[in-house]
Amino acid sequence: PRLAVLVSGRGSNLQALLDAIAAGHLAAQVVGVFSDRPAAPALQRVPAPLRWSRDARAFPTRAEFDAALAVAVAAAQPDWIVCAGYLRILGDDFVARFRGRVLNIHPSLLPKYRGLHTHARALAAGEREHGVSVHFVVPELDAGAVIAQARVPVLADDEADTLAARVLQVEHPLLVAVVRLAAAGRIAEHGATVLLDGHPL
Ligand code: GRF
Repeated sequence: PRLAVLVSGRGSNLQALLDAIAAGHLAAQVVGVFSDRPAAPALQRVPAPLRWSRDARAFPTRAEFDAALAVAVAAAQPDWIVCAGYLRILGDDFVARFRGRVLNIHPSLLPKYRGLHTHARALAAGEREHGVSVHFVVPELDAGAVIAQARVPVLADDEADTLAARVLQVEHPLLVAVVRLAAAGRIAEHGATVLLDGHPL
């Protein structure tokens, strides 16, 4: 299966996918890495021919950037599109075009803490447990069907960055595990639920 990976920043989740593929733990191929930020370090993790980036702020409207992204992604003919630290909201047209084949990793135990600053918000709320979710992307932000989650404890002296680092450690294996299921054709979006091997999760 062919993977397109959308990134905005560091790219440690992309690296986890690349490492799993190189180690023979994930039968898939990264056919393109796409970014709304040309300076994103994540882009440097793959050879230049696999990179596509445009500065989203240079486009007059969100829809026009999204249309350009959709054309580039479609040209790579991906089976799955993985948002791995992609910090821009995907427009309705993009989601509709690729619906059911777009995954996102979000650093919270959804449905809690959709959107940004999840670690600070979990700390401020006094959560004793926090974590990460991988879900299907739908037009509403971070609201699609959850495929899998991983949990970590919140410690008494945590700051947002220490908590983020603890969550990140469980993000990488979780994303690899879910993409492995996707690549094997074992998961599907079915309305608000996820089918694993044809049965509701
Ligand atoms: C991760 O915490 C991811 O869940 C969030 O942004 C961060 C990206 O990290 N959406 P990286 O770019 O994969 O290193």
